Amino acid sequence: MAHQFLFPNETLIPANNIPHPIPYQGSKRNLATDILSYCPPKIGRLVEPFAGSAAISLAAASCDRAQEFWINDAHKPLIDLWLEIIERPDQLSDKYESLWKNQLGREREYYDVVRSKFNKTHQSECFLYLLARCVKAAIRYNSSGGFNNSPDNRRKGATPETMRQRITGASQLLRHRTKVTSLDYKDVLLGCTRDDLIYMDPPYQGVCGSRDNRYLPKIDHDGFCETLRGLNKKECLYLVSYDGRTGTKTFGKRLPDHLELVHLEIHAGRSTQATLLGRNDDTYESLYLSPGLVKLMGLDRKAKKTH
Ligand SMILES: C[S@@+](CC[C@H](N)C(=O)[O-])C[C@H]1O[C@@H](n2cnc3c(N)ncnc32)[C@H](O)[C@@H]1O
Repeated sequence: MAHQFLFPNETLIPANNIPHPIPYQGSKRNLATDILSYCPPKIGRLVEPFAGSAAISLAAASCDRAQEFWINDAHKPLIDLWLEIIERPDQLSDKYESLWKNQLGREREYYDVVRSKFNKTHQSECFLYLLARCVKAAIRYNSSGGFNNSPDNRRKGATPETMRQRITGASQLLRHRTKVTSLDYKDVLLGCTRDDLIYMDPPYQGVCGSRDNRYLPKIDHDGFCETLRGLNKKECLYLVSYDGRTGTKTFGKRLPDHLELVHLEIHAGRSTQATLLGRNDDTYESLYLSPGLVKLMGLDRKAKKTH
């Protein structure tokens, strides 16, 4: 049974002003305020082992909640892109501008040219352009490891000015205080201590092991639970986003009781599919809090009082 009675901290985050340079399917940018409201007001180092577009780090940096960051993702081209964003924002913005302008008048054909180039070179500006233009900003690869998502022909991708602002803004927030790695999440967690706050957002269980993810190490549910058990032993503070439900349909396995996590549900909006089918199903994303975090935040006492 989900605990929906906890009272999160108030967090003032200028949500619309957070610079998000990487368009990313599955980004937690819309839930960042909710997620951060379950985090301590002052975080030493915020670690994202499954960073993707690093929505939680960007949100925490925007409201000065954390002093340092560790952004990790097993997908190497994504991490190379993060390094360019943080360390060489002007160069990356110039290269994106050049790609964006070159496409004008031949957008469909140019997308394929950039996609072939990316598949040969893995250049960050090509990856950024593809993510800005592809369908649902979804990273998809074929069985030989080639990026194969198609363009969304209704969109040209963010304009160079907008992209430059986002890149520069993200760089200003993260530069000189962010460690950036492309490791398996287990290796990142080995390097974490109880002074860190760890936010984990593993791939949806439904997509683990599917064709699209063949190029990444698999996240096996039991192995993940065992790793969390290790974090509990070290008394690490962590939060895990782990699937959820739409209406009464639950996605993925729950994390087991023996981990003694508090399970919350965050309202993530109305399911588009359900709306199309004329149903009224809302989508909730699961968020689990580690025992140490619950204690630190005094959420155990608040929960008891509400009973
Ligand atoms: C659901 S996405 C994270 C989205 C992120 N929270 C955001 O706001 O954009 C999961 C990420 O985990 C990465 N990933 C998959 N397997 C991994 C592994 N074994 N170790 C580290 N990262 C992994 C994927 O490349 C993907 O970017």
